[in-house]
Amino acid sequence: MSVTLKGRSLLTLKELSSEEIRYLIELSMLVKRERRQGELRQRFAGRTLALIFEKPSTRTRCAFETAFGEEGGHPVFLARDDIQLGTKESVEDTARVLGRMFDCIQFRGFRQTTVEVLAALAGVPVYNGLTDDYHPTQVLADLMTLEERFGSIEGLSLAFCGDGRNNVARTLLVGCPKMGINVTIVSPRELHPDQAALAEARELARASGAEVRVTEDLEFGVRNADAIYTDVWASMGEEAESERRERLLRPYQVNRAAMASTGKPRTVFMHCLPAVKGNEVTGDVIEGPQSVVWDEAENRKHTIKALMLSTLLGPGA
Ligand code: CP
Ligand code: NVA
Repeated sequence: MSVTLKGRSLLTLKELSSEEIRYLIELSMLVKRERRQGELRQRFAGRTLALIFEKPSTRTRCAFETAFGEEGGHPVFLARDDIQLGTKESVEDTARVLGRMFDCIQFRGFRQTTVEVLAALAGVPVYNGLTDDYHPTQVLADLMTLEERFGSIEGLSLAFCGDGRNNVARTLLVGCPKMGINVTIVSPRELHPDQAALAEARELARASGAEVRVTEDLEFGVRNADAIYTDVWASMGEEAESERRERLLRPYQVNRAAMASTGKPRTVFMHCLPAVKGNEVTGDVIEGPQSVVWDEAENRKHTIKALMLSTLLGPGA
């Protein structure tokens, strides 16, 4: 495959073509096999990664740190209070300084513009590890997990139940139609995706032949779904919304009845984690045999390693 991602950043998932996403999924499978067989190399030896975190994280931080560190790279964790990002020092200046010292930068935080400015000025690959708007490294792991479970992803149907405006839903609206996966957002009207996100998703779907739907009706929305995906009702930074969200989203909980409404025994349950059990998903579903949430979590590491290998080292990494 003639794909080279050397020098590229990952900010939304829109910047990758379907061929490039396919390449990353295949490279992720390869690095997963290597790790399982204990074949670790030193492909990041002598390289450095800056990890900027304005919001907390378990999976994303550990995936970046372990994927980079186990191959000889040196990750440096920079928490919100460690640097002056956007307070006493502009994001522009921080970007130029970090770009002189590091080979690549991960940013997790609030504003999408912050990660965009870092990418525009650092001169090294920048990876969005979650903003208020997008979570592209999550959706790469989700696509890999679907590929592992079903053998091939084109033509599958995924229903996302919950806050249709959040970062994960918005990124699924990029990744699914791009890869030929039908996607349905199931949420109350107040939390339907915005028109711009939907228009972009429909444009991508036209190219791949997939379908994009939005509905308030849970039973209708999940019918025939191969995967039901959910996420927390209030995302990081939206804690003040929690009570209102619980009222709005309680009818959209993924429970045994919702799983049965797909009419397919092989439907998988997906969640980016962390989960609030008893809210967006019941304990029996997340712990049950249809749940693939631990595979998704593990695959964060393999997809992130594949992303760093291809953007730092290029083909033949
Ligand atoms: N799914 C995910 O991004 O998890 P963390 O918030 O723990 O990084
Ligand atoms: N939508 C969630 C995702 C967490 C990985 C949040 O932003 O908190």
